[in-house]
Amino acid sequence: LEAEVRSQIDGATDEAGLDAVRVAALGKKGSVSLMMRELGKMSPEERQVMGPALNGLKTRLNDVIEARKADLEAAALNAALASETVDVTLPVRPEPKGSLHPITQVMEELAVIFADMGFAVAEGPDVETDFHNFTALNFPEGHPARDTQDTFFMKPDAEGMRKVLRTHTSPVQIRTMLEGKTPIRIIAPGRVYRCDWDQTHTPMFHQVEGLVIDKETHMGHLKGTLMDFIAAFFETDQVEAQFRPHHFPFTEPSAEMDVRYERVGDAVKVGSGDKWMEILGCGMVHPNVIRNCGLDPDEYQGFAFGMGVDRLAMLKYGAPDLRDFFNSDVRWMAHYGFSP
Ligand code: PHE
Repeated sequence: LEAEVRSQIDGATDEAGLDAVRVAALGKKGSVSLMMRELGKMSPEERQVMGPALNGLKTRLNDVIEARKADLEAAALNAALASETVDVTLPVRPEPKGSLHPITQVMEELAVIFADMGFAVAEGPDVETDFHNFTALNFPEGHPARDTQDTFFMKPDAEGMRKVLRTHTSPVQIRTMLEGKTPIRIIAPGRVYRCDWDQTHTPMFHQVEGLVIDKETHMGHLKGTLMDFIAAFFETDQVEAQFRPHHFPFTEPSAEMDVRYERVGDAVKVGSGDKWMEILGCGMVHPNVIRNCGLDPDEYQGFAFGMGVDRLAMLKYGAPDLRDFFNSDVRWMAHYGFSP
């Protein structure tokens, strides 16, 4: 029996198989245990011989099983180590890195381009007075842009004054001119708000305003500045632009500037195609606005422009839907080449 059990122990290839052998020999109904039970029926003399013999057998088998178990465990461990080795020379898995928001990146690009042209940066509040956002900018009472359709109005204060979420960065023109320090050459980047939502409109978007006030400023300066700007921004002088006559209450004459683009598959490509995207409004500052800010329009003239930063980002980076800019998807950012 001992020889037979020993060969079974040697033959066990894993811990489960070994345990089955152990139960078959030493378990409650195992072959060795059954023999131990026979001891009761034996004569005292027989028992004196067989008792120690069976106990010895049991101990030896237990020892052999333990030894075999240790061997199997070591073998299992070695196999696991061999199959699960870590190659420390492999490159690490790429983890998304933090970066500035694409719009912030484009705003910074714009600030650098205009700084090179001598523009300083000015700022104003997002929550504006009706005076700065509309009245001083020569919006007639009851002008459609004052309508609740476009403008987010705040609750009236104790005096019944209703502030607005600024609908454009043009109120910064007013704030800057009211300071009275001429000549003026500023840009004003910031958030603006309008009740609008589709592929090219979000209720919060970004503009960069520009204002130049000086003596003998004319439309040629405006056009030259903006043509230089798009060449710098798109990093080519091949981008075709058109000035379309337009109307703004605060400029006269006024225009909108469009750049040529097309949709290529899922992306937007600037410089070719038969579509025009409006990127900014501009014009010569209206004499009423200059007067509203305490300056003499016979002495000072100037030009202003307000550009949609988000549109510019779409065009430059080829993103087809403006709304994606505000979905916080790092895979989208990487796809459109916005790097940390
Ligand atoms: N404020 C205008 C807009 O938001 C843009 C603009 C700015 C037009 C300055 C002319 C001059 O549409």
